[in-house]
Amino acid sequence: MSKQRVLLLGATGETGSSILTGLLAFDKFEVEILIRPSSTDKPEVEQLSAKGIRVRIADISGPVDDLVSVLLGVDIFISAISGTSQLAQMDIATAVKKAGIKRFVPCCFATICPPGNVMLLRDEKEEVNQHIKKLFLPYTIIDVGYWYQLSCPRLPSGRIDYATFPGMNASLHGDGEALNILTDLRDVGHFVARIVYDERTLNKSVFCWGDILSENQVYNILEEVSGEKLERHYISAADVEARVVHATELLREDPSNARTRVGVYSAQYDYSKYIRADNRPEYAKYLGYLDARELYPNFVPKGFREFAVDLLDKKVVRPYSSARYN
Ligand SMILES: NC(=O)c1ccc[n+]([C@@H]2O[C@H](COP(=O)([O-])OP(=O)(O)OC[C@H]3O[C@@H](n4cnc5c(N)ncnc54)[C@H](OP(=O)(O)O)[C@@H]3O)[C@@H](O)[C@H]2O)c1
Repeated sequence: MSKQRVLLLGATGETGSSILTGLLAFDKFEVEILIRPSSTDKPEVEQLSAKGIRVRIADISGPVDDLVSVLLGVDIFISAISGTSQLAQMDIATAVKKAGIKRFVPCCFATICPPGNVMLLRDEKEEVNQHIKKLFLPYTIIDVGYWYQLSCPRLPSGRIDYATFPGMNASLHGDGEALNILTDLRDVGHFVARIVYDERTLNKSVFCWGDILSENQVYNILEEVSGEKLERHYISAADVEARVVHATELLREDPSNARTRVGVYSAQYDYSKYIRADNRPEYAKYLGYLDARELYPNFVPKGFREFAVDLLDKKVVRPYSSARYN
């Protein structure tokens, strides 16, 4: 039987490059990537092309019929477009339907969160998901919780500064006890490959996870692995909610400002993950998700402790740096 052909949008990004790695390692697909015309000269694209990965070129904001012709011969389409560009997927979803593609994986890859004014980012993703369902387009929604790579506070010694962001996770939220689905970004693609190969996940939502931990537990593990003591500064639930209100107000004043938009995403992530405690397995199952760990018991993802050891051994790459391509 010939291999199914997967076309991946966003292969030069963080989630997309993990997915590309996972698909290639799984070795059951013909993998191609979709690149916008303005990015064809990027060194990342040249490197991927030099590895023998076929590159298709299209502007996803172009006419739908042009997109349909670019999609010929594709069995599965996966989108890993940037968080701030979610609604740019509408026309490509329409084109995927017209091209008769057997499965569309929209760009979710985020935390578990209900639709409807909890998180703007989730609502934008849900708008795409609703469009897919209106099209009667076969789909699989995949969420992964929050990346380990974005869940670490810095250590006082500065030993992990190379892979963390200044000020990130410097505070815990509420009592720090809300459990959260967490996944190593490096495992996202290994999960995705298994999920899109699996008929059981067609027209379903699936969540992946490497560990389920509270912020207090993340701090404890980092202390144990590093031998360092971390200061714990807690932000009250009321302050988390006030930050959401403030960030939303700023965006209302300047709706096209991408930084301000990311500020809203970030404040709402804290509210949803730590105060509402949405991002946990029980709630995912309540929303109708399948658990990827139950579907693929033989795939063992990295646990957070293993990630912390890698972090101290300088084996982790800071997201959104160019180090992946060095
Ligand atoms: N779970 C988590 O902890 C977590 C963390 C961060 C993000 N996410 C989610 O992961 C998803 C992907 O985000 P990311 O941060 O991984 O992405 P990213 O690193 O920002 O990369 C985005 C990719 O999308 C491509 N792209 C952007 N706009 C495009 C357009 N108009 N046409 C064609 N290609 C376009 C970019 O290609 P170019 O090379 O052409 O720019 C790049 O390959 C988002 O849905 C986000 O919500 C989850």
